[in-house]
Amino acid sequence: MSDPARVTRDADLRGRNTFGVAARAPFLFEVADATRLPETLDRPELAGRTPLIIGGGSNLLFASDPAVPVLALTGREIITIDEGDERVRVRADAGVEWHAFVMHTLALGLGGLENLALIPGTVGASPIQNIGAYGVEVRELVDSVEAFEPATGTLHRLDRDACAFAYRDSLFKQAPERFIVTAVEFSLSRAPVLRLDYAGLRDELYANGCTAPTARGVADAVIAIRRRKLPDPSVLGNAGSFFKNPIVPAALAEALAAEYPTLPMFRGNGPDTRKLSAAWLIDSQGWKGHRDGDAGVAPSHALVLVNHGDASGSQLLDLARRIADSVRQRYGVALEPEPRVIGAKW
Ligand code: FAD
Ligand code: EPU
Repeated sequence: MSDPARVTRDADLRGRNTFGVAARAPFLFEVADATRLPETLDRPELAGRTPLIIGGGSNLLFASDPAVPVLALTGREIITIDEGDERVRVRADAGVEWHAFVMHTLALGLGGLENLALIPGTVGASPIQNIGAYGVEVRELVDSVEAFEPATGTLHRLDRDACAFAYRDSLFKQAPERFIVTAVEFSLSRAPVLRLDYAGLRDELYANGCTAPTARGVADAVIAIRRRKLPDPSVLGNAGSFFKNPIVPAALAEALAAEYPTLPMFRGNGPDTRKLSAAWLIDSQGWKGHRDGDAGVAPSHALVLVNHGDASGSQLLDLARRIADSVRQRYGVALEPEPRVIGAKW
């Protein structure tokens, strides 16, 4: 039988994180067939430790080298499992590239994922922080998540409710070493209800002369907006939004709204909370376009930290801490990083 994993010793991770910061792992294991994970996890190089799972590295900041080996799932199979009249279930391996998957489902005539076009990374990472954009979160389309639990050697099939999805959060994000997501099943629609309410989306769609929007048209509009707003990691290293939009008590939000009427505010996670725009809070403190050597803030978006070339992960983390301090001092609001920080505590 073939080797269950491709193994690289002293692996260079610079090309495997979209910040493009230098980092090395003692070992990198690349596993194509998830059913052979148990053999790989038993390898002596791991010495019983759980490896750091890496997808496209677009939501990771290496503040220092990972102390443990790194493991990537590289399986890329996509299967259409159940052809119903209205809904179709599509199962994709963890290693499938997310944007390619979205475009594949649209080409099959299936809608649901169109607002999530052009998010970097893999299918396997999509449930980790419940990726979201342009008014849609992936939890709305997830039917179930297949996840291997190294501690028990069990392969679970978790339904949507079991995943404890919330804004940029899930069971998997809360316990990052507990599960390895091996595949995700999505429930997609042959006749999707298009979601056009996110600010600017409808305008973008109709500005191009569209009269009868389709799911593919929505994806194209989302792609166009994203290309204007967000730096392309292959040109300027970044991990998308560096901070989550903070969810605060409604009383604090109302006091801030009275003082700063232009501060954007959204529904929180219940009647007593509101979500604030982290980008606005940071922008108002003058950080947009700021640069300390190669660590900076994108000129096009205050929420995106960027690596202009040779910034280290710890320099980016230091800048992030100073940004969060300035927001806390001015507004009394704590910002939390969205990417997983490896090798340092926030
Ligand atoms: P990685 O960065 O490799 O990993 C992220 C986390 O998931 C890590 O904790 C890792 O250990 C864990 N993980 C990865 N794969 C697995 C697995 N198979 N099993 C268990 N754990 C795993 N995010 C949004 O939500 N919305 C956006 O609009 C958005 N826009 C972005 C734009 C840009 C330009 C960039 C660079 C990033 C953006 N992101 C966005 C963040 C990022 O793309 C997503 O979080 C994405 O899902 C990360 O996928 P990845 O494969 O790169 O994960
Ligand atoms: N804004 C500023 N300054 C800026 C940019 C934005 O003040 O430089 C204000 C504007 O008022 C704007 C508001 O912030 O209306 C919201 O901006 P945007 O629409 O860009 O959304 P965001 O809240 O900054 C979130 C997600 C993105 C996602 C977009 C679109 C988070 C942390 N970020 O950004 O996700 O693509 O909405 O839905 O929730 C990511 O998670 O990595 C990510 C890129």
